[in-house]
Amino acid sequence: MDLDTGAGLLHRLTSYRPGREWDVPADDPRLRHDLTPNDVAILPPPVKSYPEDLPVVDLPRDLPDPGVPATAVLAGHPAPARPLDAAQLGRILFLGAGVVRTAERNGRRLLFRAAGSAGARFPLEVYASTLGVPGVPDGVHWYDPVRHALVQVGPAAEGETTTLVVTGVPWRTAWRYAERGFRHLYWDGGTLLAQLAAAVASIGRAPRLRTLFPDVRVRDLVGADGVHEFPLALLTVGDGEPAIVATGPARAGELSRVEFPLYTMAQRAGDRDELGEPWPAGDPLPDAPAAESLDAVVRRRGSQRRMDRTGTLPRATLQWATAAALRGIDVPHWIVVHGVDGVPPGVYRWPDLATPRTAGNLRDELERICLGQSLAAEAAYVVIAAVRVDSLDDHGYREAQLAAGLVEGRLHLAAYALGASATGMTFLDSEVPALLGEPADLITLLFTCVGVAEYTSRPGGAPGRPVAVRPVMPRLV
Ligand SMILES: Cc1cc2nc3c(=O)[nH]c(=O)nc-3n(C[C@H](O)[C@H](O)[C@H](O)COP(=O)(O)O)c2cc1C
Repeated sequence: MDLDTGAGLLHRLTSYRPGREWDVPADDPRLRHDLTPNDVAILPPPVKSYPEDLPVVDLPRDLPDPGVPATAVLAGHPAPARPLDAAQLGRILFLGAGVVRTAERNGRRLLFRAAGSAGARFPLEVYASTLGVPGVPDGVHWYDPVRHALVQVGPAAEGETTTLVVTGVPWRTAWRYAERGFRHLYWDGGTLLAQLAAAVASIGRAPRLRTLFPDVRVRDLVGADGVHEFPLALLTVGDGEPAIVATGPARAGELSRVEFPLYTMAQRAGDRDELGEPWPAGDPLPDAPAAESLDAVVRRRGSQRRMDRTGTLPRATLQWATAAALRGIDVPHWIVVHGVDGVPPGVYRWPDLATPRTAGNLRDELERICLGQSLAAEAAYVVIAAVRVDSLDDHGYREAQLAAGLVEGRLHLAAYALGASATGMTFLDSEVPALLGEPADLITLLFTCVGVAEYTSRPGGAPGRPVAVRPVMPRLV
């Protein structure tokens, strides 16, 4: 990948290094310097909105939990088949994008969703292009996460199988992270898709994920303009051609019209015209430890804000969770072990846990590399995704970021299913190659901290009944 054009340029200009604060843009005219991060006066709305004349289907608020253990789903074990009707489609959407908790901050009500999001910006929208779902007219629908309803934005598409389209709204994450938020769209997309895919698998249907699709046609399908909103991925609810061939125009909905030209440029550079094959599902794992249902684990998950650095996790937890998270994924991963029974502290290149690249206690170093965030030192281990620059092109860059997010999302579910906790984590790009003992031409994708919880969050609520919480803040260093 060329670091002077397209997504490569964005990556280079948004790479963190010591000596420059994360919210100060690099000195380059292609980055916006005229907006103050986190300015509440220009805060974008948390979700899209549509005119009231569009047809709405209120989805049943009693979710049909199939009761499949989270670990069985993550292990790729087949679940009994269940029909996809309005309630089940609503359950799938809710387990990815539903509003599960709320919190008050500076007089504002924050909506926390079922899947995590870097900085709680929640910059994604989900559409369902439905075919033959009882209780839902065939059509293209926007999922309203607040009302737990489908708003029909376009006519039925051609294709064979009901398809979820995940889009990203750059300004919602750029409000805090400026151009680096392009990465977050794909990270968050991955964590969301990990949960949507798990929910699809739990009704005995194959979740088919595609990231190679005709971008312009999918934009038109959901009414995204390609600048203030663009599609990230398709998830088909079972086998068959995705229902993405539009048969008429879609309504666009309301979004704040703030553009970051580098997002548009990076996204366009990765646009393609053809529909690709789905991502490989990966081989099932031979075993699945006992666990609560997927639905219960999703409700319990959150991003752990404080971990117990004196606690350790069993080697089996690290091994099973990582193997489950990496099913079908070919992005390389490393693990920095701080406190795992039977694995001496150090840096390991997964799956080799026998020979550390570097041995010893790296808690302080991880905290430094994670911009002084203490969770990186408190974790029992930290999983790191990274790829060589020359293994990517502009489209592959998107896919690698999304793959890293998918792994983060699955690690999260696996950790909570096995009695541990987790959080996503950002990093100083410039410092990671030396940490991993790799050459400098490395694109670091994402960190996930897994550790022993210091407190337990209240489980998230049901559709229309989110639980009000007072967020715990990470420990200051
Ligand atoms: C991709 C990703 C990156 C994240 N990076 C950080 C981070 O650097 N530091 C941190 O404390 N939390 C991080 N988080 C956690 C988010 O702050 C958290 O998901 C968000 O506040 C929503 O809360 P919840 O996950 O408990 O629902 C990250 C989450 C994701 C999904």
